[in-house]
Amino acid sequence: MARIPKETVDQIIHHADIVEVVGDFVSLKRKGQNMWACCPFHHEKSPSFSVAPAKGLYKCFGCGKAGGVVQFIMDIEGTSYVEALKYLAKKYGIDVQEEEKTPEQQLAQNEKDSQFIVSNWAKDHYHKLLQDNEEGQSIGWSYLRQRGLNQATIKTFELGYSLDQWDDLLKSATVAGFELKYLEKTGLVVRREDDQGQDTGRRYDRFRGRVMFPIHNVSGRVIGFGARTLKPNDKTAKYLNSPESEIYHKSDVLYGLYQARQPIRSEELCYLVEGYLDVLSLHQGGIKNVVASSGTSLTDGQIRLIKRYTDNVTVLYDGDAAGIRASLRGIDMLLEGGLNVRVVLFPDGDDPDSYIRKVGDQRFREHLEGASQDFIQFKTDLVSREAAHDPVKKAEAIREVLQSISKVPDPIKRQVFLQQTSQEFGIDEQVLITEYNKLVRNASGKSPGGQSSSGSGAAGGYSGGQQAPSSGGASPRPAPRPMSPEEEAEALMYGASPEDLMGGGDLQTLTREDLEPVPDVLERCEREVVRLLLLYSAQPLAPEVSVAQYLLEQLEGTGFKTGLYADLLHLCREELNQGRWPEVRTLIQHGRSDIRSVVAELATEKYELSPNWTTHQIHVPRELDLLQTACDNAILRLNKVNVERELAVRLEALRNPVDEASMMENLQTIHLLKQMDNQLANMLGTVIPRASM
Ligand code: CTP
Ligand code: MN
Repeated sequence: MARIPKETVDQIIHHADIVEVVGDFVSLKRKGQNMWACCPFHHEKSPSFSVAPAKGLYKCFGCGKAGGVVQFIMDIEGTSYVEALKYLAKKYGIDVQEEEKTPEQQLAQNEKDSQFIVSNWAKDHYHKLLQDNEEGQSIGWSYLRQRGLNQATIKTFELGYSLDQWDDLLKSATVAGFELKYLEKTGLVVRREDDQGQDTGRRYDRFRGRVMFPIHNVSGRVIGFGARTLKPNDKTAKYLNSPESEIYHKSDVLYGLYQARQPIRSEELCYLVEGYLDVLSLHQGGIKNVVASSGTSLTDGQIRLIKRYTDNVTVLYDGDAAGIRASLRGIDMLLEGGLNVRVVLFPDGDDPDSYIRKVGDQRFREHLEGASQDFIQFKTDLVSREAAHDPVKKAEAIREVLQSISKVPDPIKRQVFLQQTSQEFGIDEQVLITEYNKLVRNASGKSPGGQSSSGSGAAGGYSGGQQAPSSGGASPRPAPRPMSPEEEAEALMYGASPEDLMGGGDLQTLTREDLEPVPDVLERCEREVVRLLLLYSAQPLAPEVSVAQYLLEQLEGTGFKTGLYADLLHLCREELNQGRWPEVRTLIQHGRSDIRSVVAELATEKYELSPNWTTHQIHVPRELDLLQTACDNAILRLNKVNVERELAVRLEALRNPVDEASMMENLQTIHLLKQMDNQLANMLGTVIPRASM
């Protein structure tokens, strides 16, 4: 069995940058020391997936997945340790010597590896046929040229050609040593059955005499193929696609995403088209942020995939009736997925591919700019064309638009869209809101549990512009899948040290406070204050001032936002007013069970907030100094989080200004809050030397 030498493993892990590697799969946003995104392993709407660059680790606080750079690739691809290493080696241009010497399939560590490897081999096979084989050249290659594709595009998308024979691939694959099992599993080879559906033992190639479009997953592995016939009046389908397999799930794939993922991020926009050739032609024309749903109607999985890279989608569909119908369906789903949607239609009879070839790159770009509409304009135009003077049709049109608006999960965006619609149709906003609420009520009455089966954003109603609480379905959380003992053993066998698996860092040192998203951070801050207050209430900080007195004084005027901690704080204050130290001993006897249990938790909790405190304690056990630091730190942090929350509220309010005066006032407050925030950050920086994070 082949193994990757330890030095190579070290080199790979040394070169691999966790932010770069993870960044190929999700769009990370910096917040504090760490990077955040919605978790690629489970469905969620607000980010709980974090990457700590300094430690080379990722962790999702929602589903629990965590590890280093190699583990991340294993998790996201479902491959073995070795395949993950090879992926990283390829990304960083590191030679894995063993690879050439051994037949590739011997390196396969699991089922998925084998299917990836055989698909990759088939892609190379088809590509070589297109480039070098006589039939490939005269039929496949000349077809692609005639469709206007150049060599660079053919290379980038690794296009190929399958010979018009029953068993070319089957024979070549067998010679190369591939198991029939995997050729069948990936659908490259089909078993022939008799009339009764019994296996005849005969096998033949699925793809024959077709131009081959390899379908890549996000990390660039080939997982399946689309194949176009070249016979103009062939009785078989124009396109034949790989069947579903362990590695190919149609509904979770967007054609071209691998080539488009970086451009989508840098352009902050994804163009969505229907066909393979649309992607190729646009890419060749310099519009590289383009992906295709590949004919089938858009799925939730595809939408989530887009959302990993950007919030903005422009749908490019044919201007014919079918195209418009498809775009209408797509729009609502995209809105529901929380994306900002625009639409560009093409003149009847043209798709993006034929149009860019007809008018050229420059004019195509102009069309994208000029004809691009947001979904409200799009729907409005669509219906008002036919409904101009027909009040019944107009009402229908408005309901159409409201219908789409109700899919938008973000209440602020909904509000803005309602305003826009009111202007667009010249209808009083209040009337529109009444209509909207009726529609939402009806929709939720008809299908209990929201309008969508996907369980994503169901909109709330409005009352005079005020938002009613929205239902917000719970997201399913798959159980975390840590490396199995066998996988771990296998990885270790392949020369990995346990630290390699962790990416050289130690998961335990990812402190929660650094990684939690803001709302939870606030709760944690409040909890920490209460904890210090309860556990050290009587400890003196200075002559005449105990921890409890100090903290309660500092908190004068600041209320806690978390109900339970607010109640506890109140109880502590009462104790102190009664001349007693608030203490675990007494509060643990409290009448309310939630108070009792949180007090018990706090009393037994390990330090999480002050890692350096505990370490210092070993060397310099001067509790008094440390307590002062811990208290100051807790208060400063709490204040900072509160300031940041207020800041967020104010910034949000800027988006919907009531009038000029209130906006100016708001801007002033924002300025002050920002100053405070900076000051607090500075103070925190000096009060506590932050640990390694
Ligand atoms: N498609 C498919 N199976 C079919 C027809 C279409 O999977 N039988 C998918 C393909 O991904 C195709 C897309 O739907 O690219 C759009 O179909 P269509 O517009 O018919 O094809 P084009 O992409 O325009 O291809 P061409 O220009 O070569 O006709
Ligand atoms: Mn076409």
